[in-house]
Order: sequence, then structure tokens, then C-alpha cells
Amino acid sequence: MKLLGIDIGTTGAKALLIDPSGTVLARATVEYPMATPQPGWTEQEPDDWYRAAIRCLEEIGQKPDAMGLTGQMHGLVALDKEGRPLRPALLWNDQRTTLEVAEMEQRLGSDRIRRTTLNPPLTGFQVPKLLWIRRHEPEHFARIEQVLLPKDYVRFRLTNGVVFAEPSDASGTGVFDVTRRCWARDLIADLGLRCEWFAPLHESWEPCSETADGIPIVAGAGDQAAAAVGTGAVEAGVLSLSLGTSGVAFVATDQPKPDPTGAAHAFCHANGAWHSMGVTLSCGGAVRWARDLLYGAGTYELMNREAASASPGALGATFLPYLSGSRCPHIAPEARAAFLGLTLSHGRPEMARAVFEGVSCDLADAVDRLIALGAQVSEVRLTGGGVKSALWTRMIADMLGRPCWTLEVDEGPAFGAAILAGVGIGVWKSVEEGSASVVRRRQQIVPSGIEYDAIRDRFRKSFAAAKPHRSTDLTSTDSVVR
Ligand code: XUL
Repeated sequence: MKLLGIDIGTTGAKALLIDPSGTVLARATVEYPMATPQPGWTEQEPDDWYRAAIRCLEEIGQKPDAMGLTGQMHGLVALDKEGRPLRPALLWNDQRTTLEVAEMEQRLGSDRIRRTTLNPPLTGFQVPKLLWIRRHEPEHFARIEQVLLPKDYVRFRLTNGVVFAEPSDASGTGVFDVTRRCWARDLIADLGLRCEWFAPLHESWEPCSETADGIPIVAGAGDQAAAAVGTGAVEAGVLSLSLGTSGVAFVATDQPKPDPTGAAHAFCHANGAWHSMGVTLSCGGAVRWARDLLYGAGTYELMNREAASASPGALGATFLPYLSGSRCPHIAPEARAAFLGLTLSHGRPEMARAVFEGVSCDLADAVDRLIALGAQVSEVRLTGGGVKSALWTRMIADMLGRPCWTLEVDEGPAFGAAILAGVGIGVWKSVEEGSASVVRRRQQIVPSGIEYDAIRDRFRKSFAAAKPHRSTDLTSTDSVVR
């Protein structure tokens, strides 16, 4: 029996073929570009996702018995009546929709939105993007026939036009009834949108379609819920920390647990229950950005070595990682990244270290948010590309003041999607059973004893400097910081 998971990530598509013992039989990765047409905007071509998925399938070269799809959440793919994307997709880290979030709150009322969706509407969510298209591209809005999330678009293409969605990803649209696991049709209608645009729902492990050559596809999950299946964060006590383009702290919950501040999400999980998660928008993404600027592509190793050679606290340098704004613990789409505290003594090693420290401090603050909401953590498990960095994983263990486990399979989302596929065709009786059967710990990272409290404190206090500088401020005699 062979199970395939495909993850439509932000930097590329990843596919993983496993057997029911959890052994990886084959893996493939195909990258695609991301456009940033204006500061704060991010877009991708949905066809690039599909082509990358097909190339991954070709590279894997073996026919699976079932397939699960997962991918970046919140993105907007709007299709015309021929099923063609009307424009590039707007992504999860696109921050252009501040006005549309305000419009949602005004038309529907913040309390009503929070009562149904359990979360405030946020700029990254899908539906504010739809309202942005209505406001700025009425010619596209008039031709919309279908609205899909990224992985659901890839399913649409792989199945010659079958549309389905599922609760974990739908939770991040802004119009989903998270408690009842269904579309909030009244919110959709009162926003002047059409309920038919939103796809019918299946639970994540349910087979809902087939590829042209007869491979059953389960509904799958948003990348973070799938990653949690792939790390074992389907049971209480496990905190999954994803060091991907975004950084994510994730715990499973029996019941939805809304965050009164709205910074941590209360979303549906892929096992029929719920989860809480705190998302830092630029995590591995900020490390990659800094690597490309300071070192050039393909040089993570050098960046890690130099960062490790700099002393903790980076000689007083702080990096605020808000290259795409901030979502947790600060809801601040307008926040901007910054290096603070540089002197002539600072070199590339200190800047590299400040980047690792900045993204880790932000993620540790997201973990604290989940703990403040009552998460009981008995074990921390790490997933995502950042797990390859010994410096970074040790830094996280130090900041959290507890050991963290790496896992045998680092590609959490694709692994989780393959597990969901196995549940769908009866290899396991439940998502919990599937996850427990194949998720294996690899190495325990113990704290080294470096004391990060003062560094974390300095980081938190620096947040005020993440406010954007506007060009008009620069001509003013006042301070440029609003
Ligand atoms: C989750 C989120 C990101 C994306 C991309 O809410 O916005 O983690 O799913 O990975």
C-alpha cells in the first residue's frame, strides 16, 4: 500500500510517498516564484502550483493507492465560468486588505463575526481578499463563478473539475462557522457574496474525488492542520512548532478555544476536533530573505556557522521579523521589519544571529499566547525546513526552557496529508491512530543553558519600532516614527 501527500507550500510543492509503516518511499520538491507587486502584497500563479504538483508526481514515479492534498492556507483563487483563474492568487501573507477587514466589521459587526467564526477577520484571511477584488477589480469580480483555497484548486485540476473544501482550511476564510463546521451562509450573504461560490465540504480524511487515472483523493487539510497530523499534535499535550516560511505554534483542543485578543486562531482540526494556533508570518521566510541578501542562495550552512560564532544577543542587535506584517501575538498587518541597535562593531555574523533570534523570539511569544489560553504542553515537536539548523532548534529549546523533539520525517504537512489519505482508504481507523502509528521521534534537543529572558524582553519592548515609516513622514520635521 502506498500513500501520497502533496503540499502546495509557499516556496514550492513537496510530495512524499509513504507505506503504512511510515517509511518514506520517495520524495520530490518543485519550486515556484512568489510575486510582490507592491510592498505588503504577495501573489502566485495557481497554474504554477498545478504544474509543480504534476512534476512532483512524475518525479515520484509510482502510482499511490490514495492521495491527500494540503497547502498554504487563506489564499484566494477566483475562477471564471470556464474554470480559469481570473487573476493570480492573493496569498496568506498578503496585507493589502486593511480597508476590507474594516468593511467586514462594519457590515456584519465584530461580535457577530466572532460569535460564528470564533476569530476576528484578519487581513490574511480569504474573504477580505474577495472584497478587495470587488472594490479594485470589478471586472474580475463580475466574472467570479467559484472561489477556492490553494490545495482545493490543485484538486480541481487533478480531478478535471471536482470542487471540494474541508473545515481546517475553510476556518481561515473569515466566513466559516468553526463550531458547527459549515459555511456561515448568513455572513456570506450579508457581505453581498454568493454562497454557491464556496465549495461543498468533506472532513479531511474523507475520500471526495479521484484523479483522472483513478487514485482516490481525500479532502486533505490546511498546511498547519496537516503538519499537526504529521507531528502527532492530534492529542492533548503535544505542541507542534513549525519552522516553515511562516512559524506556527499549534495545539489540538477538544473544543474550540477562541482567543479573546484574536491573535491566536481557533480553527477546526483535521481529525474532526479543533485546534489553537499562533502564526508568525515571517519565520523561515525571514531567514531565507536574510540569507539571500547577506550570503546569496545556497549558503544556509555558512549563515548558520557565522550566526553560531556571534554571541547571544548579537552585541545588542535586534531583528524585528515583520517582513509581511504581524499576526500573532500582535495583530498588526502594517508592522514592518527592522534591524535595531547596529554599531560599527556589528558584522554579518551578528546580523545573521539577530535574524535567528528575532524569528525565534516572535515564535516563542506565540507559544506563550497558547499557554496563556490554557494549553498544557508535555512535549514540543519541531517540523519544517528550519529543523535542519542545529543552531536554530537549540535556540528554540533555550527560549522555551524545555527540550524539543525533531522527528524522523520533517515534511510535516505532506506527511500529514499522506496519513489522511491512509485513513481515507481504511489503513487506519482514525486520524489519531494513523498519526500514532507512523510519527516517530528522532532526536531530543535539550536546552544548552543560554539565558534568553533579557533578549526576549528587549525584543518585546522593541515592537514599537516596527511601525511603518511613510514617505510623508520623511519630509516632516517631526520624528519619522508615528
Ligand atoms: C496559517 C498561515 C500560514 C500559511 C502558510 O494560518 O497563514 O502558516 O498556511 O504556510
